[in-house]
Amino acid sequence: MADPATATKITLDESELPRRWYNILADLPSPPPPVLHPGTLQPVGPDDLAPLFPMELILQEVATERYVDIPDDVLDVYRLWRPSPLYRARRLERALDTPAKIFYKYEGVSPAGSHKPNTAVAQAYFNAAAGVRRLTTETGAGQWGTALAFACAQFGLDCEVWQVRASYDQKPYRKIMIETFGGVIHPSPSPLTEAGRKVLAEHPDSPGSLGIAISEAVEVAAQHADTNYALGSVLNHVLLHQTVIGEEALAQFAKVGLTPDLIVGCTGGGSNFAGLAFPFLRERLAGRMDVTIRAVEPASCPSLTKGVYAYDFGDTAGMTPLMKMHTLGHDFVPDPIHAGGLRYHGMSPLVSHLYELGLIEAVAKTQRECFEAGVRFARTEGIVPAPEPTHALAACVEEALRCKETGEQKVILTALCGHGHLDLAAYGAYLAGDLADHELADDEVAQAVGALPQVPA
Ligand SMILES: Cc1ncc(COP(=O)(O)O)c(C=O)c1O
Repeated sequence: MADPATATKITLDESELPRRWYNILADLPSPPPPVLHPGTLQPVGPDDLAPLFPMELILQEVATERYVDIPDDVLDVYRLWRPSPLYRARRLERALDTPAKIFYKYEGVSPAGSHKPNTAVAQAYFNAAAGVRRLTTETGAGQWGTALAFACAQFGLDCEVWQVRASYDQKPYRKIMIETFGGVIHPSPSPLTEAGRKVLAEHPDSPGSLGIAISEAVEVAAQHADTNYALGSVLNHVLLHQTVIGEEALAQFAKVGLTPDLIVGCTGGGSNFAGLAFPFLRERLAGRMDVTIRAVEPASCPSLTKGVYAYDFGDTAGMTPLMKMHTLGHDFVPDPIHAGGLRYHGMSPLVSHLYELGLIEAVAKTQRECFEAGVRFARTEGIVPAPEPTHALAACVEEALRCKETGEQKVILTALCGHGHLDLAAYGAYLAGDLADHELADDEVAQAVGALPQVPA
């Protein structure tokens, strides 16, 4: 056992890499509402999803068994960077003068610099095994597009990415990284698709959104028999693949003989948050752990804290099935904040369901507070975080300072899901005092959710 009094970096041997993903559906008190076909409003079946996804992933989407084996070929690629380290943030603790113990699970050691390859590699593997030749996808900040381009290169697939225009302009090096891995990338909205052309006709200067980029990628995949679509978040199978993070973290905490009292993670579509939190939630549901789990989202795109829980499309053009989730409306275009990966109008149906069940909490943060926490973290711990996990860090700092007031020695675990080496322009803007805060007002929310699809109860 590592010495809890001195350990800074808690690592696992490659032989301790988890060999199974955890499916939380097996342990929930009630299942989430079904995904509906937009035409018939009946629950979708495997055949409805077959034009976009290989059957193995469709089966994982609806699986109810507690564990799914990770294929050996996927484990082989995971070994390039997994198991990822768990750190004790001793320097941050000292700077905050808090009695809290702060830990962070660092996913920035992956080839893309974030948690995204955990599912990209799995999705590329199952598509290649099914004979698919090309994958299309959307990307926000570019982490997911990079991850999928890397994963496609591992399994001999072509990869075509639509990147949200605001992020495409803010983060030019992501394009070069995607091309270096062999991918093709377009800014979204693009003139290449019906969905993109429609947006451009109405808003030639549109900053884009994840919903629009998803429409473009889905449209192209649906039109070509040899092409499938891959989604970087939101869906059950994506969250399933990310649970490798939490399984490792559980084993790492066991090495120092501690358990977290609070887990904080940022939520765009919910995948890094779920990946870290779900295995701990399994322990809590089984009565083996008492841990609070808190999602942190941007105040400019507050799907959990201000959105409605309703059936909505996953994309802007309305091509995907209808999912019951916390949503701001599928045509909502968020303010172009620098945490591009958090600019999604909805939230994973599974995370939304857990929120409805009261199993998780949610808070919203504005971007300057987040960058302040990111800079504080960089100056103490030496890692420049991606703008997305600075949201979790802001909530972590808030809790650590609360502990300073109360004297509580809480154990806090933060999902540090990526580094910000290709997001430095955002830090430049923050340091120059050029970043504005934007909080979505209640009347803007009411307007945004005004045109949700009508689904009978
Ligand atoms: C570094 C990083 N963190 C978080 C997210 C948000 O996605 P999710 O909520 O699925 O983890 C993204 C999405 O692109 C990302 O790149």
